[in-house]
Amino acid sequence: IQQKIEARLAQAPVVPLIQADDPDVAVKTAEALKAGGLSVLECVLRTDSAVECMAQIVRSVDDVIVGAGTVLTVDQASAVLGKGAQFIVSPGLVDDVAQLCIDRKVPFYGGTMTAGEVQRAHCLGLETVKFFPASLAGGTPMLKALGSVFRKMHFMPTGGISAANLSEYLALPQVIACGGSWLTPADAIAAGDYSSITRLAQEAVEIATRSRK
Ligand code: 3PG
Repeated sequence: IQQKIEARLAQAPVVPLIQADDPDVAVKTAEALKAGGLSVLECVLRTDSAVECMAQIVRSVDDVIVGAGTVLTVDQASAVLGKGAQFIVSPGLVDDVAQLCIDRKVPFYGGTMTAGEVQRAHCLGLETVKFFPASLAGGTPMLKALGSVFRKMHFMPTGGISAANLSEYLALPQVIACGGSWLTPADAIAAGDYSSITRLAQEAVEIATRSRK
């Protein structure tokens, strides 16, 4: 699955966040993102029904790879894996969550923002980490500094990324993809305006294609 995710991210290096409390809305959001060319989706555990929302996307949206984000504990990690999560994202790096994913051979993107955290990820055997919150953790200058030391580590920056700065991040070779919520604005979802989500996804794919050339 890791190779499948990486192959898709090589095509479209953007991972949109889906925050939903209604499975139907989650599915429509996932369909809108897929229609715009983004098919690696992170459903964040920030609502009471988030696990059910993720599970519904797994059941009813073809040809997308769905992971769970904002996974804080090993119990949550185990619950989402039981519901078909194909990767796990955490805001920080917690060893027992990382270890569960390593044991189950599920890609795990744990959050880092310091050299010490990236080094811990390296020692756990992780090859890709989340860099969070990217804009506050030092943005692209910090990623360049970390990348010059951790030569083999790949980074997935999230936090403060938008269409305005996406190309700056994607220009760095150590950045495997960028994540964020700018693709799924709450007001568009509340208004049922899924076509604007498709347009935001298309715009991100266009920016990514230009900046990866
Ligand atoms: C995350 O969990 O990755 C962040 O909440 C994303 O940050 P953003 O909302 O600034 O995109």
